[in-house]
Formats: sequence, structure tokens, C-alpha cells
Amino acid sequence: MWKAAIAISLSLAGVATMTAAGNAGDVSRGRELAERCCASCHAIGEADKSPDPLAPPFRNLYRQYPVDALQPAFLKGLEVGHRNMPRFVLSPQEVTDIIAFLHDLNPCGKPSSDDEAMARCFAPVK
Ligand code: HEC
Repeated sequence: MWKAAIAISLSLAGVATMTAAGNAGDVSRGRELAERCCASCHAIGEADKSPDPLAPPFRNLYRQYPVDALQPAFLKGLEVGHRNMPRFVLSPQEVTDIIAFLHDLNPCGKPSSDDEAMARCFAPVK
């Protein structure tokens, strides 16, 4: 039960952030963009391996920092932390959509009765 309570309070925090930022991101557009621009190197699913072993799977990013903190770097063109990579020029809406997609990958960000999802939420990073 306490797990469910944590998941719900985190998801409410997520909603509040989106409202504060103005326009909400569109998860499916963000996923499309990630498939098109990022999936050649990064794992973008829930269990796949990154094609480029150096590129962190997107599902682990939320454990490293609040994914909203990526917004300024994404807006500048993702020059931060990227090697061998074309400079991306993303519109502010595209950045919002990608970040919404990254939020959606966070199993702790969604209330769930799915025990497996909750176990992943508290599991160590692989
Ligand atoms: C050509 C391969 C490639 C593509 C395409 C690519 N990345 Fe990366 N990305 C990498 C690699 C490699 C790293 C790890 C860089 C390092 O550790 O120096 C990385 C790291 C990152 C990080 C972590 C940066 C950090 O400082 O922790 C984020 C966030 C990220 N990428 C987002 C994206 C997004 C969003 C896209 C699509 C718009 C994308 N990447 C497309 C190769 C790529």
C-alpha cells in the first residue's frame, strides 16, 4: 500500500510541473520523435539495449536527474554530453514532448497496480 501512495504523490508532482511549465507535452509525439532522432543510439523502450553501448537507455535517465532539468540543454541543441552526434535543433514544443515521453518511461511517475512496474521503480539501475 505504501508503494501505491508514493507512486500517486509522485505523479501529482509531475502534473503540477507540467502545469507550471505552460503547455503540456504530448507523450506520443515525444515517442515518435525519440524513435526518429534518438533510437539509433539510445534504448527508448522498457527493456531494450542501447544500440550504442555508451548511450544511456532513456528509461534510466530519470534516476540520474529530474528529467525536467534536461530542458535547457535540449533547447540549446543537446550539445551537452553528446559525442559523435549531429547537433539537434528541436523546437520548444518538441522538447516539451520529448520530456513528457521521458516522464512517461518513469514507472514511479504513474500510479499502478502492476507489481512488476512498481518493482522496477524501486530497483537499482542496470
Ligand atoms: C549518434 C548517437 C546518438 C544519438 C542519435 C542520440 N544520442 Fe544521446 N547520447 C549518445 C551517447 C553516446 C551518450 C553518452 C555520452 C557520454 O557519456 O559522453 C548520450 C547521452 C545522452 C543523454 C545523457 C547526457 C548526460 O549528460 O547524462 C541524454 C539526455 C541524451 N543522450 C538524449 C538524447 C536525445 C533526446 C536524443 C534524440 C533527440 C539523443 N540523445 C540522440 C548518443 C546519441
